[in-house]
Amino acid sequence: MAIVQSLLLIAGFCLQANLLLGNIVSAHENIDLPESVPLVHPANFSETTPVNTSWLWRKSFYSLNPDVAKALRPLFDYQFVLPEQSLRAGLGYVGAARRLRKFVTDLLEGSRTLKIGVVGGSISHGMIASNRGVTDWFSIFVKWLTSVTKAEVKSLNGCRPATPSSYMVFCMEHSVDPEVDLIVIEYSLNDGFDDSIAKNSIVMGKEQLVRRLMKLTNQPAVVFLQVPHVWPHYVHPFYYTPEDVEGALVAYYDVQTVSLRTSMFLLNLHNPTPGFLWNETYSNRHPMDTGHKAMADLVIHLIQEVAVGLYTWPISEEEVSWRKMPLPPPMHEGNYEPTSATCLVVEAFANLSIFSEGWQWINEGTDTKPKWGFVSTIPGSELILRLGRPGVNGLAAAAVVKNATFPLLMHYLGSYTSMGQADVDCLGGCYCQARLDGWMSLPNGVKATVTRMALIDVTWKNQSLPCDLRLTVLNETSSDGHKFKVSGVVFASTNSLTSSHPVSTWTDF
Ligand SMILES: *[C@@H]1O[C@H](CO)[C@@H](O)[C@H](O)[C@H]1NC(C)=O
Ligand SMILES: *[C@@H]1O[C@H](CO)[C@@H](O)[C@H](O)[C@H]1NC(C)=O
Ligand SMILES: *[C@@H]1O[C@H](CO)[C@@H](O)[C@H](O)[C@H]1NC(C)=O
Ligand SMILES: *[C@@H]1O[C@H](CO)[C@@H](O)[C@H](O)[C@H]1NC(C)=O
Ligand SMILES: *[C@@H]1O[C@H](CO)[C@@H](O)[C@H](O)[C@H]1NC(C)=O
Ligand SMILES: *[C@@H]1O[C@H](CO)[C@@H](O)[C@H](O)[C@H]1NC(C)=O
Ligand SMILES: *[C@@H]1O[C@H](CO)[C@@H](O)[C@H](O)[C@H]1NC(C)=O
Repeated sequence: MAIVQSLLLIAGFCLQANLLLGNIVSAHENIDLPESVPLVHPANFSETTPVNTSWLWRKSFYSLNPDVAKALRPLFDYQFVLPEQSLRAGLGYVGAARRLRKFVTDLLEGSRTLKIGVVGGSISHGMIASNRGVTDWFSIFVKWLTSVTKAEVKSLNGCRPATPSSYMVFCMEHSVDPEVDLIVIEYSLNDGFDDSIAKNSIVMGKEQLVRRLMKLTNQPAVVFLQVPHVWPHYVHPFYYTPEDVEGALVAYYDVQTVSLRTSMFLLNLHNPTPGFLWNETYSNRHPMDTGHKAMADLVIHLIQEVAVGLYTWPISEEEVSWRKMPLPPPMHEGNYEPTSATCLVVEAFANLSIFSEGWQWINEGTDTKPKWGFVSTIPGSELILRLGRPGVNGLAAAAVVKNATFPLLMHYLGSYTSMGQADVDCLGGCYCQARLDGWMSLPNGVKATVTRMALIDVTWKNQSLPCDLRLTVLNETSSDGHKFKVSGVVFASTNSLTSSHPVSTWTDF
């Protein structure tokens, strides 16, 4: 049904994009912000301020029996920066933690290679950390894990700046080792905010992501790392994040949560604490080194707590048998994860092009934060992408769900400035029709660049002909320019495209 309605949905995406961004912007103006410390940087402020080592502290343990103390000692050789009360407050849902207890058992035994991953946006990618690969939270965490176990630890930072969790639902294969054992999810800021409890599209998309991850070979443990919504000059209220509505999801699937939001509000609102103020931990929406260290602290604290718990309450046979049970049905009725999804970005996307006139294949980002795509600024420019070939059992053929029709998700850029429109139609044996607008109407002074995802129905009527998709830049524009950019396509076999809905607001973090 989602497929039949896709043309309507395309209109829906644009609407939703504006609504969601509208929320973000107007919330600043309309919501009464609590008396949090203001976010003001002095003129000589440096984003690369290191962690102040005089704040570091170590946990002490009392009344442990000597054998347990000996087994756990290596795990506790770690110095935290987050003050103790704030560290403890940031431990969110732990639950039965069946999978995480298994992971920590393997960590303590050290008898097999452990694979660790993270998916998220630019925060966990490590933007603004003074030395990405060293001072970002994931690197600190991996370094610590490596130091506490005899096991080999392999890690993959799969974060993609400027994407929400719904991107990862479809594009996981580029970011996650299929044999991962522990995966952290950090999307709180990029996913925006939606206050509905029932059928919240952010939570529904996240559910599909959690299900896809949990179904991976090694039954990985999943942990949510929830961050506050910190903007360049203000901070959204405590509740203004998807963290709480996602609470239902973590409890339902027995995955764990740690919350930088809770930790940081304590240090900025309840008890403003020098060294941990918003402006000392954040810059331009991203945590600086002290913020990264705080995130690592929270995840490490969770692992330590689970380790202690293994001694006070060892794994029983019953726990093992519960762990082996298949996933329950989705929390939201029918909200199954895609059965397969292939995401063509960067070179694989470029390879689809069989004709282009007036388009350039360029990286508009940097080497560490690449933004590859086909870009055109000239009306009339045509780009033709070959989605399927006759006789080849390719992606398009595999994606066909009903009556030769398959859903295609197209990544394109939305921006506040100089963006134009493009028509989409299909050639050869295929039929499709859509119009995409890259311009976003935003309130004065708001500069946002987002990557959007449009759902396009493609019907491959005659499969003895190739299936080609054409993008044509139009004369019409809602802005003063004609720029149009496409950066990827997804072929998905899924019976619920719910998770593609919130994709409309990928704020360019
Ligand atoms: C943080 O903000 C306070 C005012 O609230 C200011 O005094 C201080 O200099 C700022 N520090 C940094 C590092 O931006
Ligand atoms: C910024 O300037 C103030 C006043 O000159 C000085 O006290 C402070 O140490 C400087 N801070 C940094 C990070 O350079
Ligand atoms: C580090 O923290 C200590 C204790 O709060 C303080 O005295 C010192 O000035 C701080 N150092 C820097 C470089 O901010
Ligand atoms: C793109 O095409 C080139 C040339 O045919 C090929 O060598 C390369 O492996 C392809 N890359 C991807 C990611 O498909
Ligand atoms: C744009 O307008 C020009 C001049 O009216 C016309 O020749 C051209 O076909 C139009 N191009 C498109 C893509 O509509
Ligand atoms: C599929 O195609 C058949 C024959 O063309 C048609 O009768 C049927 O309604 C189509 N089903 C859907 C779901 O479009
Ligand atoms: C499909 O395309 C082939 C090759 O052009 C053509 O011979 C055939 O008639 C087409 N089939 C239909 C049903 O249009």
